[in-house]
Amino acid sequence: MTDELLTVVVRKREQQAEGVVALELVDPAGQPLPVFEAGAHIDLHLKGDLVRQYSLCNNPADRSAYRVGVLRDPDSRGGSIAVHEHLHEGTELQISAPRNLFPLSETNGRSILIGGGIGITPMIAMAYALHAAGKPFDIWYCGRSRATSAFIDDLANSPFAAQVHFWFGDEHDGKRVDLEAVYEGSDDTTHMYTCGPAGFMDWVMDAAASKGFSDDRMHKEFFQVEVETGGEAFEVYAEASDITVTVGPDQTIAQALNAAGMKIPVSCEQGTCGTCLCDVVEGIPEHRDVFLTDEEKEDNDQMTICCSRSKTPRLVLDL
Ligand code: FES
Repeated sequence: MTDELLTVVVRKREQQAEGVVALELVDPAGQPLPVFEAGAHIDLHLKGDLVRQYSLCNNPADRSAYRVGVLRDPDSRGGSIAVHEHLHEGTELQISAPRNLFPLSETNGRSILIGGGIGITPMIAMAYALHAAGKPFDIWYCGRSRATSAFIDDLANSPFAAQVHFWFGDEHDGKRVDLEAVYEGSDDTTHMYTCGPAGFMDWVMDAAASKGFSDDRMHKEFFQVEVETGGEAFEVYAEASDITVTVGPDQTIAQALNAAGMKIPVSCEQGTCGTCLCDVVEGIPEHRDVFLTDEEKEDNDQMTICCSRSKTPRLVLDL
């Protein structure tokens, strides 16, 4: 579950829109950063031991910097506030290597990229990759208003500007994007990708499904999910460490093990990234994540311990 961390420095910090900053992170010695694929994210290790994930939004061919956009979220669990208040030009911090849980398909068919609000970020990297590969695509950027939407100029001046479609609600009497126009001309080789608020993604995915998109041609980034918290207490035995803990009603397994002195790496803490995935030796997990597929959950031989709980009074984990 551990990954080697990279040290980077904030080379540039820009106010991109109301409440949104863009950060350019570079190697302190000016060396190229590890390669990343479109759709990838990095973990930022922030003040207060917070670890938060942000999609990379620059051209994947550019290894001189990683660029992220961070919305200051009023409902933040601390991550976006830590970025806005503590990361300035010249600040050094640690990050994970890029990981990609939202890859582009290998298809040569058309791609439709639909970003809602700050969910545009992975779409920008995808657009660069598709453009470089000479594959057909359109990118739709849906936001409340221009003032609250980041990266407008970057997209308007990009080499693929002709394929960028902007839709700002306040310019359309508050109406949502016209999905008939978004999906116009799609066929059974077209893939759609979306990232944004959960309700927005559900809405564009439902429309895609009703247009005949099969599941394997619909892709979404788990940008923010609601995780059910709490439940009955249960016991966890970390077999390799020979440590037994009781996981309280308002505690996660990771928190209980950390409190017992184990070092359990977590990142998203909402069951989306897989950082805390571990093998189950005995007992039946109550899966609450969106990282494992339904089939993997049915096997009950691994679980995410940042949010999932137990159906049995005791779990034995390979930790
Ligand atoms: S920390 Fe991301 S799935 Fe558990």
